[in-house]
Amino acid sequence: MLDHAVAKLLNEQVNKEFYSAYLYLDFSNYYSAKGLNGFANWYRVQAREEQDHALMIYDYLLENNAPVTLDAIAAPDKKFEDFAQPLHAALAHEEYVTSLIHRIYAAAADVKDYRTMKFLDWFVAEQGEEEKNTHELISRMDLFGGKPESLYMLDKDLAARTYSAPAVSAD
Ligand code: FEO
Repeated sequence: MLDHAVAKLLNEQVNKEFYSAYLYLDFSNYYSAKGLNGFANWYRVQAREEQDHALMIYDYLLENNAPVTLDAIAAPDKKFEDFAQPLHAALAHEEYVTSLIHRIYAAAADVKDYRTMKFLDWFVAEQGEEEKNTHELISRMDLFGGKPESLYMLDKDLAARTYSAPAVSAD
């Protein structure tokens, strides 16, 4: 039986992860409209990964006999004036998600919920990876985004990203 406060935070995180998927799909939408199909692909893959994160937490709640409530997902409302802005917005968003994961981890630690802490270890590592990837993308954009030829090459590179299901099972 999960602690009520921990289960509530996990349930809220299901919604936050689906929001992340929606947010990144909108980034993909932005880049598609600008003709940067590689960037669009990158964020479309990212959106799928966020759906995976949501479902991993959803499954964990169900496996632990905790009820799941699916709330409304907020509309993404960001507007961008240049191609780099979504990348910075993504970094700020990932740092925020890291803080949410850490908050759940701390709540689980408070009640000695070792099972949830172990479950969240994957997410703690994943957030480190997501922040690193976003930093790298910003660096590459800083280096190459200013010239059409190199932006074209970077876009081509990002077109190669493919989706794969999470490498580590949360079971
Ligand atoms: Fe599910 Fe990008 O954190």
